[in-house]
Amino acid sequence: MRFISQLRGGVKRCQSLSARSQTKLLAQNTRQKPILHFNSQGTIKSTTHIHYRNFSSSSHRMSDLPLFAELTAPNGLKIKQPLGLFINNEFVKSVSGRTLTSVTPINDKEITNVYAAQPEDVDIAVKAARAAFEDPSWSELSPADRGQLLYKLADLVDKHRDTLATLDTWDMGKPLSVCKEEDLAESINTFRYYAGWADKVTGKTIDVGPSKLVYTRHEPIGVCGQIIPWNYPLMMTAWKLGPALATGNTIILKSAEQSPLSALYLGQLIKEAGFPPGVVNILSGEGKTCGAAIASHEGIDKIAFTGSTFTGRAIMKAASVNLKNITIETGGKSPLVIFDDADIEQAVKWAHIGIMSNSGQVCCATSRILVQENVYDAFINQFVDFTSKASVIGDPFNEDTSHGPQVSKLQYERVMEYVEKGKKEGAKLVLGGTSPNANFVSPTVFKDVEDHHTISQEEVFGPFVAISKFKTQEEAIKRANCTSYGLGAAVFTKDITRAHKVAAKIEAGMVWINSSNDSHYAVPFGGVKQSGIGRECGEYALANYTNAKAIHVNLGTML
Ligand code: NAI
Ligand code: MG
Repeated sequence: MRFISQLRGGVKRCQSLSARSQTKLLAQNTRQKPILHFNSQGTIKSTTHIHYRNFSSSSHRMSDLPLFAELTAPNGLKIKQPLGLFINNEFVKSVSGRTLTSVTPINDKEITNVYAAQPEDVDIAVKAARAAFEDPSWSELSPADRGQLLYKLADLVDKHRDTLATLDTWDMGKPLSVCKEEDLAESINTFRYYAGWADKVTGKTIDVGPSKLVYTRHEPIGVCGQIIPWNYPLMMTAWKLGPALATGNTIILKSAEQSPLSALYLGQLIKEAGFPPGVVNILSGEGKTCGAAIASHEGIDKIAFTGSTFTGRAIMKAASVNLKNITIETGGKSPLVIFDDADIEQAVKWAHIGIMSNSGQVCCATSRILVQENVYDAFINQFVDFTSKASVIGDPFNEDTSHGPQVSKLQYERVMEYVEKGKKEGAKLVLGGTSPNANFVSPTVFKDVEDHHTISQEEVFGPFVAISKFKTQEEAIKRANCTSYGLGAAVFTKDITRAHKVAAKIEAGMVWINSSNDSHYAVPFGGVKQSGIGRECGEYALANYTNAKAIHVNLGTML
């Protein structure tokens, strides 16, 4: 882990902490988060711990809740919404009768309650997934037929796209137009893409000499636990299910407590597509109970998680109980570097998309902008001007809205706390920092941010960007890398040599040259350092869901 050290004279360098200090910092219990204090030279003066906010709503008992509800969404759409846990292709009540409330951040009103899984429900789901994994209806289904099921699922998602988009908009506040054009399109494409891969997963033959035949089989890992966040509810479900199903695994997927509805609705479509019972099980539930039970369950072979680095660490620890295979995608503080030869107008537009889309609730958002000194003022003026016009804040069900509320009141409060921190530590607020309505944060831009400022180090996860100035290419690379994260990065320059050299030097899982955040389901997605382990999307994700088995065939070595 690295932290920033600022030397006198404005030259920055990274300083590694000793292994002992790292261990001390990482040895947080699950309720505390370290806050680092810097002295005037930028070296760490002290570390304190504040209570880490838990954004989940707590569950309550309500065993008379029906298994379906007739809902009417704010756009008038009538939806038959499943409320139960989806296990063995059926919606069932939680054993304890516990439920959680799905709330919309648009006005903090309750949408409905859904059943919330407890450890005993996870147990039932694991048994269903294990039986399905062993049942010939799934284990002996040909890869091409698995692909056909995924194609059918993609078609059904397409058919129900208005409902699924409406559910995500209602549940987490993302503009409906964005949900349809981006989340739904990406989810459908992801299912189709992995449908195509199902019959193309092959092993190798390895020539070790004439007396032996060696080949590998790429076999499914088994029962997979998948824990997803709230920022792209349906899309994260598709990213997780696609490669796991294409390779023949069975699944227990837990949605985020802030956004359980679209995953449950998808459960119906999974059954309709023809997946055998128990292949996909979908649980609503809280992280600390249901999520923790999945991460530590000895009947689960693999865990795939997307969410905070903080929770990622807890999951890794819990998953060590039976050495689960792990894929983790966590947070970021991704830099966007603009050199003085760049097309500034394009840099402005991409930088806006890179941080303001989804109200900044994007793991790979380019939330730090580093600008070369000659174009620093020009970039900031144009960026502020463009951002104040391009972000249309409003009711996410309105056609024109591009910027909805933060996912929850607590998440909103967290972003606003960073506005205060930014001001207090001496960065200059040049746009926003205000709240036009409950749970909404206006696009917020800070300039003259220094590397040791909290807003340059911690993931804000809001429409909030920290801009600072650099002189040389070497300085830009060093400062881009001065973070404990390594998810995405963007570079703007017309010099192709520089573009590729800088891209190679940046410590990140993904680098965009002259764009930002235009990811694609066919391209590997994931991070280095504390941004994660493994890759989602593309062919690379298949490796996360298969084990290579080596078969040795003796062709004549006689003893
Ligand atoms: P979180 O990481 O706590 O939640 C993500 C998922 O993990 C949810 O399904 C949650 O129920 C589950 N979870 C929570 N605690 C768990 C545990 N002990 N064991 C197993 N599962 C557990 O994130 P949260 O609280 O929703 O947001 C906090 C911050 O995390 C955000 O401000 C943002 O910085 C970051 N985040 C990053 C995301 C990404 O895409 N990488 C997505 C969501 C949040
Ligand atoms: Mg909600």
